[in-house]
Amino acid sequence: MKHTTLRDLDVSRIGLGTMGMSFGYTGAGSDDAESIRTIHRALELGVTFLDTAEIYGPYANEELLSRALKGRRDQVVLATKFGMISHTGGGPGQLDSSPANIRSAVEGSLKRLGTDHIDLYYQHRVDPNTPIEDTVATLAELVAEGKVRHIGLSEAGPETIRRAHAVHPVTAVQSEYSLWTREVEERVLPVLRELGIGFVPYSPLGHGFLTGSIRSPEQFDATDWRRTNPRFMGENFRRNLALADEVRAIAAAAGLTLPQVALAWLLAKGEHIVPIPGTKRVARVEENTAADGVELTAEQIAKLDNLPPAAGDDHNEEQMRLIER
Ligand SMILES: NC(=O)c1ccc[n+]([C@@H]2O[C@H](COP(=O)([O-])OP(=O)(O)OC[C@H]3O[C@@H](n4cnc5c(N)ncnc54)[C@H](OP(=O)(O)O)[C@@H]3O)[C@@H](O)[C@H]2O)c1
Repeated sequence: MKHTTLRDLDVSRIGLGTMGMSFGYTGAGSDDAESIRTIHRALELGVTFLDTAEIYGPYANEELLSRALKGRRDQVVLATKFGMISHTGGGPGQLDSSPANIRSAVEGSLKRLGTDHIDLYYQHRVDPNTPIEDTVATLAELVAEGKVRHIGLSEAGPETIRRAHAVHPVTAVQSEYSLWTREVEERVLPVLRELGIGFVPYSPLGHGFLTGSIRSPEQFDATDWRRTNPRFMGENFRRNLALADEVRAIAAAAGLTLPQVALAWLLAKGEHIVPIPGTKRVARVEENTAADGVELTAEQIAKLDNLPPAAGDDHNEEQMRLIER
């Protein structure tokens, strides 16, 4: 597995997103033993970058990681996120990046993760009620205290990124980026390049759609988050199948699988871009991490660049309001 840097933080070229092991998707929480085997296999394959958040579960995903990392904590760069649970009264789902909330959140994450430091601590969504300068000043205190090593932002827009970075260096921004969600290319990635900040594409496989394995919304549990996502509904779903089929054709011609093509395309977009594909299965982590060795040709990249846009927004209306672009 190759390595790269997010600013001055060394990470494997491909990470592992652990959200779906406990939260959001069909089968979450149903087989923790296989999820833990998946994390261990990822480590064997050279993955050093693991991504979780306190809201995943809530809390259950951080606890699962702690179990998986017993005796292996030093092998990984552990990233978690705060700000989507208000511990000052609002509860889960309430944005809160106030200094008091961060202080509560970090203690909870450290305890659940069974560690004395978080390698990369992200604000999960920008909080319109707390100036970003106040949030980052508190994170800078946590860095000075040794509880946090690096700080990050998720789904922050260019202005917020600049303001945050002026208070304390931001190591990485994490936002959705994949063959079918490309908004960051226009305004966010140029700012990150200018400021020397790394980028972590989340949902790099389009929540599974770009793997070609999802052919009907009926495959999802009643509680699966994707049932509420416009791209997975009705006519949009049907139209997006044609997009997945185009990726399939490119993958077949290249002798690769769909997820490998989707990940290799992201790797080709920049040296300091580190995707975190999510899976809770050993065989899939093997397939996905093998994309590390894939180099697409300029012609293949051009074909992928020119895929038709996805049908439907990447989040529902309520969730879109939380995303800065
Ligand atoms: N910052 C944020 O707001 C935010 C938001 C969403 C996600 N994230 C992070 O990003 C990570 C990845 O995103 P994601 O999990 O939403 O989406 P993703 O990585 O685009 O796709 C995950 C889905 O694809 C399936 N899958 C993975 N590899 C596969 C393969 N080789 N063949 C077939 N299916 C495959 C998984 O199913 P199985 O698990 O059943 O294999 C899962 O349903 C998360 O785990 C989380 O850490 C962050």
